[in-house]
Amino acid sequence: MIPVIKPYFGEEEAEAAAAVVRSGWVAQGPKVAEFERAFASYLGVDDGVAVSSCTTGLHLMLGVLGIGPGDEVVVPSFSFIATANAVRYCAATPVFADVDPATGNVTWETVEPVLTERTRAVLVVHQGGVPADVEPVRQGAERRGIAVAEDAACAAGSTYRGRPVGVGAPAAAWSFHPRKVLTTGEGGMVTTDRPDWAARMRRLREHGMDVSAADRHRAAQPVIERYLEVGFNYRMTDIQAAIGLVQLARLDMMVQRRRSLAGRYQRLLADVPGIRAIVDPPHGTTNYQSFWVELDDYFPVGRDELLALLHANGVSGRRGIMATHLEPAYSDWPRVPLPVTERLTAQTLILPLYHTLTEAEQDRVVAILTDAAKGKGAA
Ligand SMILES: Cc1ncc(COP(=O)(O)O)c(C=O)c1O
Repeated sequence: MIPVIKPYFGEEEAEAAAAVVRSGWVAQGPKVAEFERAFASYLGVDDGVAVSSCTTGLHLMLGVLGIGPGDEVVVPSFSFIATANAVRYCAATPVFADVDPATGNVTWETVEPVLTERTRAVLVVHQGGVPADVEPVRQGAERRGIAVAEDAACAAGSTYRGRPVGVGAPAAAWSFHPRKVLTTGEGGMVTTDRPDWAARMRRLREHGMDVSAADRHRAAQPVIERYLEVGFNYRMTDIQAAIGLVQLARLDMMVQRRRSLAGRYQRLLADVPGIRAIVDPPHGTTNYQSFWVELDDYFPVGRDELLALLHANGVSGRRGIMATHLEPAYSDWPRVPLPVTERLTAQTLILPLYHTLTEAEQDRVVAILTDAAKGKGAA
């Protein structure tokens, strides 16, 4: 079976994890601090706060933005459900904005109509690694006194206007889940240029303690910590961070490989009628964390049928990005019509793309799609 995604690890990751185990300090400690510095410096931002996942990072990020009960935060419904859920963790209200049909991302044009006097923030998602056109959103939101934070879960290695995604954001949250290009097993980071936010997120991820467990361990004298506010256990381990450091050193190479495979898919699929493949938007480059295609209305096979056909022929695909507002957890949630979101979520699927995917495997995927476009059932 050709999987839809496969993390790319070498012996170095296994060695790095083993070295941490041998050191005897496996919890959040020096490797986490090193990974934070390295990731922030890769992006060219001031600081990074490592956490247990992007979901927990989004929660902390919204917390330092001051989001609370009664506040509205604009998010795309066209995202993994964690984006909207993080707003609900703050007892605030996610308000869904529709997305651009080409990129699957919110734009100022889709955000502005859903702003109200209660909007405190916009959470821009760089969906599937495709950079959102965030600058017009920043400018429009700034005029209205609204914060813009970024859910960059999928976007490590993507660029916006010639610089890494996340540069210029007051805060951005990242995921290192194995479906992402850079993985630590589970894990995440919040990057920010605000030292006060970084300090508070470091405290909040560790139960609100004023001295971290690692610093107490290193101290020459016994230190008795204090708990300054109600926090969480959102820590990353040093084992994860050690893997992350190796993965970060490989990131550009992994992105280059993904982009080359995506380019090949695009060339081959250009000849298949009824299929549109995701491409770089004019304002940046994607890491192709997800390589998705959209079927047009005349495609002879429905999206779910096509997924079944791929599966029957030894290829694992996935439905496209979900629409949060269509899930039972949001069934009674108020919303404006979201026609583009509903169309994209129904008509898109994610094709296999991973570092070690071969051209022969890619050809097999394309052959199944080509036959399906001709109304044939199997490759
Ligand atoms: C856009 C987006 N936000 C948040 C998340 C949650 O990331 P994590 O699994 O690291 O919590 C994901 C995961 O797929 C995602 O795609």
